[in-house]
Amino acid sequence: MSTRSLNILLTGGTGYIGSHTAVVLQEAGHRVFIYDNYCNSDPAVAQTLQKITGQPFKTIEGDIRNTDLLQKTLETNHIDAVIHFAGLKAVGESATIPVEYYANNVQGTISLLQAMQAASHRPRTLVFSSSATVYGDPQYLPIDESHPTAATNPYGRTKLHIEEILRDLAKSDVSWRIACLRYFNPVGAHVSGLIGENPNGIPNNLMPFVAQVAVGKLKQLNVFGNDYDTPDGTGVRDYIHVMDLAEGHLAALNYLGAALAAEVVTNTETQTHTGLHTFNLGTGCGYSVLEMIQAFEAASAKAVPFLIAPRRAGDIASCYASTTLAAEQLGWTAKRDLKAMCESSWHFQQKAAASAGSNSNTTAGA
Ligand code: NAD
Ligand code: WQD
Repeated sequence: MSTRSLNILLTGGTGYIGSHTAVVLQEAGHRVFIYDNYCNSDPAVAQTLQKITGQPFKTIEGDIRNTDLLQKTLETNHIDAVIHFAGLKAVGESATIPVEYYANNVQGTISLLQAMQAASHRPRTLVFSSSATVYGDPQYLPIDESHPTAATNPYGRTKLHIEEILRDLAKSDVSWRIACLRYFNPVGAHVSGLIGENPNGIPNNLMPFVAQVAVGKLKQLNVFGNDYDTPDGTGVRDYIHVMDLAEGHLAALNYLGAALAAEVVTNTETQTHTGLHTFNLGTGCGYSVLEMIQAFEAASAKAVPFLIAPRRAGDIASCYASTTLAAEQLGWTAKRDLKAMCESSWHFQQKAAASAGSNSNTTAGA
């Protein structure tokens, strides 16, 4: 594989997954540019990333719906590839303000594609943050990429609409190289503890909620249902370490042949992949809510008090990925285990709590 260094734009690059991917890409020798409107993140994350990698990150404050600013950003920085993280992601909220979700996620993606099409140097490599939520209630497990899609909420439908738009685009113009990465449940944090998932308000997702209970910020966890058809009755999910997920993006860029696409290739045996390609990014292992609590208690040496509460509307019993396609095509598999996920999450949570106490702000919002 070519090792040419790329200029890579991360929309939403100061968010939870984007910030970890920024570290992985920079450490792989690429130049990372971050484009974010900070609606769910902190501008200070860029300095934290610099602290972690020892290298500066160029950040551009802007909304993805600002097509002109995006085009200018692509051209000025001669961007070779875009990883598109920017989006709103709260499932419950998406049912309350669906128009905002479609405007931000779908219209925002169209704006990005228009900017890429208009840019004079024709950047045509794109990696898109999709989600396992597009599968809806699984018809079989593990879920492979040809499993039927059936999103059950507006957030999930924004992801499906975007995937369809990208598929049509790739068909219409064969020079595009697009990867749709369907993430399962990202958790954990960078080993430094300086970036991680630090949601505003009460967390919606299990892991940040558990971490905030362990650190004493929240009193107890509600376990949403213990009468599912699972070994212990609680919901089973495929939790993936965010650093493994971040490395999956580098593998996807390599698979697309981003480095080769960005220059005139005269002699190479390396295959590049045009068109649209869809991959699950998960571990293939499912853990229940009770197993997650136990693993977190072991990693933190803290108790996580919980109550069994009614099922949460829209939740499914079990969900975990088939990882075969990503392993075979991308040469990527998740390496970090549940212990590493919980330990890194706990490390980050402790640092976040300490820095909130001292009123400094060095953590990544998500
Ligand atoms: P995040 O909220 O931490 O990061 C998203 C970033 O995008 C934030 O920094 C936010 O400020 C920015 N943003 C949002 N709308 C924008 C706009 N209009 N213009 C510019 N910037 C904008 O979320 P995350 O967990 O890092 O998720 C990244 C992507 O992955 C999202 O598209 C999300 O839907 C998807 N995803 C996340 C998960 C998960 O559980 N975290 C699972 C599957 C898919
Ligand atoms: C995991 C398990 C809950 C909180 C969501 C989105 C999905 C994707 C990832 C973006 C379930 C249980 C949770 C709590 C609990 N995001 N739980 N008490 O629902 O699998 O996926 O985030 O694309 O689209 O739907 O993740 O972390 O919310 O829940 O018992 O306070 O934990 O019932 O079984 P989910 P989650």
